[in-house]
Amino acid sequence: MRTSRKILILLLLHFTLGKEESRQLPKNLAFATATSSYQIEGAWNEDGKGESIWDDYVHNHSDKIIDGSTGDIACDSYHKTEVDVDLIKNIGFQRYRFSISWSRILPGGFSNAINEEGVKYYNGLIDKLIANGITPIVTLYHWDLPQTLQKLGGWTNSLIADWFENYARVVFDHFGDRVKLWITLNQPRQICFGYSSKYLAPGVESSGLGEYMCARNVLLAHARVFHLYKNSYQSTQGGRIGITIKYPWKEPATSSVTDVEASERDRQFEFGIYAHPIYTKGGDFPHVVKESVAARSKAEGFHKSRLPSFSDDEIKYIRGSADFLGLNYYTTFYTKDRIPSPIGEPSSEKDTNVVNHQDPNWPTGSLHDFKSVPWGFRKVLNYVKKNYGDPEVLITENGFPDVEEINDVGSVSYYNDHLNTLLDAIEVDGVNVTMYTTWSLMDNFEWTAGYTARFGLHHVDFENPDLKRTPKASARYFKELMKTKTLWKNVTL
Ligand code: BGC
Repeated sequence: MRTSRKILILLLLHFTLGKEESRQLPKNLAFATATSSYQIEGAWNEDGKGESIWDDYVHNHSDKIIDGSTGDIACDSYHKTEVDVDLIKNIGFQRYRFSISWSRILPGGFSNAINEEGVKYYNGLIDKLIANGITPIVTLYHWDLPQTLQKLGGWTNSLIADWFENYARVVFDHFGDRVKLWITLNQPRQICFGYSSKYLAPGVESSGLGEYMCARNVLLAHARVFHLYKNSYQSTQGGRIGITIKYPWKEPATSSVTDVEASERDRQFEFGIYAHPIYTKGGDFPHVVKESVAARSKAEGFHKSRLPSFSDDEIKYIRGSADFLGLNYYTTFYTKDRIPSPIGEPSSEKDTNVVNHQDPNWPTGSLHDFKSVPWGFRKVLNYVKKNYGDPEVLITENGFPDVEEINDVGSVSYYNDHLNTLLDAIEVDGVNVTMYTTWSLMDNFEWTAGYTARFGLHHVDFENPDLKRTPKASARYFKELMKTKTLWKNVTL
């Protein structure tokens, strides 16, 4: 956008906000809320569902979950379709993003045996959403791999592209007549973190090795499903398909050249490694990632880089494999360069070679590093616009784990600040964002934090056998926003 136009818009905004302190939501910005299968469904072994890596992880490594809890029951959403859809409808959201549990549909992971009860459950959910005027958005994979496939190496086995494609085919065949917005994978970095450390399932501690094998395989598997949809379904089903990547902003801690380079290096290791192959003209892993891993690998005595490479054909196959970019934003960090670690055991942390910290004064919820930093959101959006060819962006998650269980005024401020920032980014910077999604519809199983962190717009009483849902202040905030379509600069609580 030309500078003079930018200044004019800024002045107009200033004037409008200064005068009325409110603004209208853009007409083409859809609002949604989200969940994921393992975090809410429960019914972990009911009606023929197979075991997933999260079932295995919580049952065999309960020490890794802060409160020793499991998602065996979670919010019991498997039995509460009606209740949950009513919550969404009551707020007035137009869309609902949920994920399908691979092992509920294919208990053994492979497409030879389909679990009809699982299909029935998702059919019921999709139909109920549509009957209530809510558009379903389906994530094919939100971290709950069938355990049978993990036994075969999971995301480190390159055959996973076949397995994922076959699973996706079953899903498109059964639900594609009604689902028109697909997300292949939620946050590839966190999927691959499960092959780096013991802190996310499957908990394979292979930093700098397993996680890079996974990185290559998730990208190829994603691209395979994208091409499957394009070639065999899009013309008849008419939907769109993309991927969701998490983008914490990394701000240089100082203006020194080394810190500026360190923050860019960290961005490339954190999200560029997944976004660059899909969204840039050249494709492939980012140069700085390839270079850093290759150099350390060599010094460590490896014959080849620990980061597996793509062939030219694979680079082409992955490049452009998305109709949009799904972007999850929660928080921001300051990044500093550091003295390289001595050569020894491989690790991606040593490959990246930075130190991150946050300002202790930033508002914090129950997870200490999920601090509210709206300006980081705007920087991420601008970074994506500039570096990835100005893609259409769907914000697929944004939210805050307030310490207040029901009167979550911290979440309300978080949402209001981030929405104002988003509108600035759309109106002033010209970023192409068409959807905003809150995380989450309700409190749920927050991975290794168990039930100790509450991101929900609805409180769930996990002590109550009925798992009663109660709207929080943030649910009321969105209900009002959806009704008035008016965003206030400062929210009155
Ligand atoms: C994940 C969610 C998770 C949320 C809060 C996101 O990155 O997709 O599953 O609950 O972060 O930690």
